[in-house]
Amino acid sequence: MSTLVVFFSFEGNTKLVGDAIAKTMGADTVELKTSKQYPTAGIGKFFWGGKSVLFGETPQLVNERIDLSKYDTVIIGTPIWAGSFAPPIKSFITEYQMKGKRIGLFACHGGGGAKKCFSKLREAYPENQFIGEIAFLEPKKNPQVSVNEAAKWASEL
Ligand SMILES: Cc1cc2nc3c(=O)[nH]c(=O)nc-3n(C[C@H](O)[C@H](O)[C@H](O)COP(=O)(O)O)c2cc1C
Repeated sequence: MSTLVVFFSFEGNTKLVGDAIAKTMGADTVELKTSKQYPTAGIGKFFWGGKSVLFGETPQLVNERIDLSKYDTVIIGTPIWAGSFAPPIKSFITEYQMKGKRIGLFACHGGGGAKKCFSKLREAYPENQFIGEIAFLEPKKNPQVSVNEAAKWASEL
């Protein structure tokens, strides 16, 4: 059986960490992409992104259908948006049920919110075994440190 690392990354931080985890675990990766585009610059990104979380939006994913039956371990990664996971992760939860998997969680943030995010993700997937969680503060600011930390975490799962 094998491992899938599935993540959304708006500005590359979660991707940096997700790729390091996948490399360490020899895992497949899926970077979730949405048909809806969020503004990338200025204060607008916080406004639209935050609003999207608060309204519980589930933007349409444009990825190919993922065959989760191939994987016994699924690592889910998200940036923290408005104190929670980003809306594309909500879309993933809505579209993909999981049972009896080993699940690891990671999040990237600018100051906090990972704890609440992780507990919501655990609630979303009750019939699974959670094997680890880790949060990163703006990993792109210290890429090598973050990559090493991610690789160490992944190697111990
Ligand atoms: C719409 C939006 C909302 C955010 N909300 C939070 C937040 O509530 N708490 C926090 O610590 N960081 C917040 N951030 C910062 C991101 O979580 C942080 O920059 C993260 O590293 C981005 O990951 P990414 O580059 O993979 O998108 C927010 C960023 C955006 C764009």
